[in-house]
Amino acid sequence: MLVAGAGNSRLSEDMYEDGYQTLTNVDVSRVVVDQMIEKYKDKSALTYQQMNVCALEFPDESFDAVLAKGLVDGILCGEGSTANVAKMCQEVSRVLKPVRSQAHVIQTLSPNVSFSFNF
Ligand SMILES: C[S@@+](CC[C@H](N)C(=O)[O-])C[C@H]1O[C@@H](n2cnc3c(N)ncnc32)[C@H](O)[C@@H]1O
Repeated sequence: MLVAGAGNSRLSEDMYEDGYQTLTNVDVSRVVVDQMIEKYKDKSALTYQQMNVCALEFPDESFDAVLAKGLVDGILCGEGSTANVAKMCQEVSRVLKPVRSQAHVIQTLSPNVSFSFNF
């Protein structure tokens, strides 16, 4: 599973402890990613990479699922927000496997733009 805009949330750690075996976390913030790499250095299945979700560095159809909690809130705070949300959706769609894949976009600050979609 790809966790996009993971930040310093404990969500991935909790999911790891609940049995999710491979959680690939990305965030645009180098500072946060370095903190999380240090924090979880003993959990090899819990990886963190600095990456922009609008230009994901993963091959097509890499993931069974993508989880993005609060990410759209973060993108909407920046310049070119509408275009960047569209790019994020394109990239999420590109890296998802085509069959039975799911993307869950969970909003914390903007519940009116929450959505989930299946492919
Ligand atoms: C509201 S925080 C949510 C963090 C975490 N998912 C949570 O639930 O606590 C939004 C996160 O998205 C990240 N972010 C914003 N724009 C991004 C982008 N273009 N690519 C990757 N991460 C991004 C921010 O650095 C921040 O960590």
